[in-house]
Amino acid sequence: MAEKKILVVFGTRPEAIKMCPLIVELKQREKFTVITAVTGQHREMLDQVLELFHMIPDYDLKIMKAGQPLVEALTAIMSGVSEILDKVKPDVTLVHGDTLTAYAAAIACYLKGVPIGHVEAGLRTYNKKEPFPEEFNRQSIGLLADYHFAPTERAKQNLISEGRGSHVYVTGNTAIDALKYTVRGNYTSAYLKEAEGRKLILVTLHRRENWNEPLRNIFRALQRILDENRERIFALYPMHKNPQIREIAKELLGGCENIRLTEPLDAADCHNLMARCYFVLTDSGGIQEEAPYFGRPVLVARNVTERPEGVEAGTLMLVGTEEENVYLHMKQLLEDKELYQKMSKAANPYGDGTSCKQIADILEREL
Ligand code: UD1
Ligand code: UDP
Repeated sequence: MAEKKILVVFGTRPEAIKMCPLIVELKQREKFTVITAVTGQHREMLDQVLELFHMIPDYDLKIMKAGQPLVEALTAIMSGVSEILDKVKPDVTLVHGDTLTAYAAAIACYLKGVPIGHVEAGLRTYNKKEPFPEEFNRQSIGLLADYHFAPTERAKQNLISEGRGSHVYVTGNTAIDALKYTVRGNYTSAYLKEAEGRKLILVTLHRRENWNEPLRNIFRALQRILDENRERIFALYPMHKNPQIREIAKELLGGCENIRLTEPLDAADCHNLMARCYFVLTDSGGIQEEAPYFGRPVLVARNVTERPEGVEAGTLMLVGTEEENVYLHMKQLLEDKELYQKMSKAANPYGDGTSCKQIADILEREL
């Protein structure tokens, strides 16, 4: 059996969480030589995940600069990945999702004639401004990719309707596979102790289209609910490393006594705390996949989602970014037990945790 070279490129926290389990699986297959390249689009948040998986990448482009404009990051990634392609000469390159890393790597591959496998393909809002620039990135990668690994049937149908007729596979989402590495029954944490006797609310926010005013609205809503429920709730907000977000968070929430503003959590801590919290307030993509698995209600502070499966399952609720709306939904979820029960039913539209195996099987067959 001829060996095939698979180059896996990723650069941000969520890509790392979802690609590391796939790399582990691919490395177990005799047919493949797996080469890993990180762009370093994220630094600390990426390194946290690499450490968790004991992963030392073969290449690290180290492109992150504080406050780096998207265009600068894009060109740095494209030229960096292009040089790696010249050295490695892979039979296929795998990219994940909708980040700048995935988009830039896909363009470099396309221009050099290297086949592309797109993991987490076919998610869509069909609104190029929400999320920005992810919707553009993933649609573009869809156009360039040769193998599309769609997490759900709906994602597959999106791709089919866009004319991607062949090599579209429904594999589940590798996010669920990642949970096997992180979730523990006997997990303890200082934050759980600190929250004891109160309901724990996990908060994460980072989307570009929410920067500034929408973010301020969400924080004001959170501030009100925290102030009104000092004895009943405790919020944990691991802040994204982006200074633009941290400054506003500290300004508006720094004075609240029942919230902890922390550094980004290690993925194992994040997953275990998510499994044990009362509800999540977030604009994250990955958390919209993980929380339904745990049966934790999620208030999604966005106007649209590319993950409607979780909304249909009843676990996710879109609450927009207007202060009053976000506030009222949090209040309702705290007071309406029936609604809470309805949203707490574990429902996992993203597969049975064998997504990595399925993708590796397909690649073994196709390459
Ligand atoms: C990126 C992705 C987004 C994904 C998110 C996951 C793009 C355009 N955006 O958004 O799709 O949902 O990651 O978190 O690809 N920073 C650090 N240390 C880190 C990470 C970030 O200091 O470990 C700071 C830097 O100043 C950096 C800024 O955050 O310039 C923004 O990072 P960037 O990767 O451009 O965008 P994100 O908002 O993180
Ligand atoms: N996450 C983490 N630590 C944190 C916040 C989130 O490990 O402090 C995990 C989360 O569980 C999920 C992933 O990071 O697996 C989501 O990343 P993010 O929200 O940054 O990006 P998105 O999924 O929106 O692209």
